[in-house]
Parts: sequence; C-alpha cells; structure tokens
Amino acid sequence: MRQHSESGHGHHHTDIDWEVMAAQLENSGELQLPVLRRTAAHLRELLDPAKEVRRVLDIGSGPGVMTCVFAEAFADAEVVAVDGTPGLLDRALARAERLGLAGRVAVRHAELPEGLDGGDEHGEDGVGTADLVWSSRAVHHLGDQQGALNALAGVLRPGGLLAVAEGGLPMRFLPRDIGIGRPGLQARLDAVQEHWFEIMRADLPGSTTVVEDWPAMLSRAGLTRVGSFTSLLDLPAPLGETARAFLYTHLTWLRETVSESLDMEDRKTLDVLLDPGAPEGILRRPDAFLLSATTVFKGLRSAR
Ligand SMILES: C[S@@+](CC[C@H](N)C(=O)[O-])C[C@H]1O[C@@H](n2cnc3c(N)ncnc32)[C@H](O)[C@@H]1O
Repeated sequence: MRQHSESGHGHHHTDIDWEVMAAQLENSGELQLPVLRRTAAHLRELLDPAKEVRRVLDIGSGPGVMTCVFAEAFADAEVVAVDGTPGLLDRALARAERLGLAGRVAVRHAELPEGLDGGDEHGEDGVGTADLVWSSRAVHHLGDQQGALNALAGVLRPGGLLAVAEGGLPMRFLPRDIGIGRPGLQARLDAVQEHWFEIMRADLPGSTTVVEDWPAMLSRAGLTRVGSFTSLLDLPAPLGETARAFLYTHLTWLRETVSESLDMEDRKTLDVLLDPGAPEGILRRPDAFLLSATTVFKGLRSAR
C-alpha cells in the first residue's frame, strides 16, 4: 500500500512507501519488545478474567512484531495481522515462522477502513470479529479517525477490548547540547515533524479534522470503561547497534522529508549526525540514548 498525495501544501512530500520502511518498522518493534510484552500482559488484565480470548486482530500490523507478541501472550488465540502492504504481511509470516508461531498467526491483506466491513466471525470474508482488537500507529494514517474507530469497535465481540496506540511523547535521543550546531536541535526537529504530520493528515483521502480526544472518540464508538495507559521505553547511553541503526534511518528520513524547513546550521548538524565515519555521528557518539513514551487508549464493548 502506498499513501498518495499530490500536495497543494508546498514542497513537503507526504507519500509514505511502507514497503521501503519494512526493516525500520521491524527494528523499531524489536527495540520496543519489552514494552510490547508488558502491554499485552496489561491488556489481558483489562479483560474480564473469565473471558476467553480466541481471536486477536492486529490492525495496521506492519511487520507483525506485536502480532507475534500476542500469539505468545494469548496461547489459545488465533492472531491475525491485517495490513494494506503485502511486503509487511510477508515479514509478519516469516517472523511468526522463525518464532515457532506459524500455526497461530494468520495474515490478511486489507485496505482500511473499508476492509473492516462485513465478513463472518472467523473472517471468511472480511477480517471477522475478535475478542481483542489492537491497532498501533495506524489510525492516524486514515482520513476519518472517528470513522476508523467506529469500524474497529464494530468488529469486537461482546466483552471484547479495543486498544489503539496513538500519541505519547516525541522520542528523545540526543542531549540538548550535542557540541555541534545550535543547542535544542531535537525540539526544532519535533516542530518540523509536527508540521509534516499536519500536512500528511490533510492530504489523506477523506481527511476529516476531529478533536483528538481519544477517550471521547472511543466513547462515541460505543465503548465503555474507556481510558489510557502509557509505557516508557528507556534505553540509556551507550546504545547498541540496533538502536543506532534505527536512529540513523530515522535521521535519514528527517533529512529527506523535512530538512527544507530547518535552517542551514541545523541541516549541517544533521549531515554530521549522519556521517558514518564522524565521531559525532549518531552511529558512534557515546551520548545517544533512546527514550520514548507510547500511550494506549482502550475501551470495552459491553458483554451483552
Ligand atoms: C506506522 S506503521 C505501524 C506498524 C505497526 N503497527 C507499529 O506500530 O509498528 C502503519 C501501518 O499501517 C498500514 N496502513 C497505513 N494506512 C493503511 C490503509 N489505508 N490500509 C491498510 N493499512 C494501512 C501501513 O502499511 C503500516 O504497516
């Protein structure tokens, strides 16, 4: 799946080629594994202890890192990765196979949100229904976020739980003063990304603005006991190779997509951070760390 835009909003391009991002998405998931495992355990606690979890949907699964975590956490469940990008679903299957979970993980190619409509409870035609529906960082790529939540809530079985990972805090990985360029680079990068995000959303098909009060949106989708919880990933310096590779790709993406909005000095700083041979580069500098907070919004479908 490729998100397309002929932006009338200036020179930022907001197309996302998800196939190209496959390795980065899987790396990111690997780094988040401790958080994802805690999240799965917490979601189990939010469900009625008597409720059997037979089917789990991971909507906008990407390469299926959380899909496989669910397959491990819910031993009696079939877990289905649903995504619009075939290459990512291939990765999800390969991952499940590597982890010995192949029999319990299925994939389904679907364009959202239309792909959520219809189908019987096992997903013979459509994605089917589930006791737990999870969607991480996918709803914000859909034009009508309230419509998407309504559709996600619509595939819940009675007593089922919907959980969407959206928001949290901007990731931090550098000190305020990194010894090159003007201090405060991360805050300025946050601002230009926020601007990019705004244009990205405006360019989506059927883009609709909504006050992003996720608990209120989940209530409007008909769910009860709505609320949220936040998990922290805290990888201190010095970082290992996977985290450095992840940050290198992240900074490359920033240079390619938003650096026009930065001044010359910050662009030069980005170049140094992306110089693989430079001691100040992100691949080598000793002070790089990774701190990120992810908020999960959740609500239950009543049991009757
Ligand atoms: C930011 S990634 C999130 C992947 C994973 N859930 C995670 O948290 O790492 C967004 C995912 O949503 C999928 N996606 C975006 N828009 C979609 C659409 N309209 N239909 C189906 N899938 C879509 C992309 O293919 C991608 O895998």
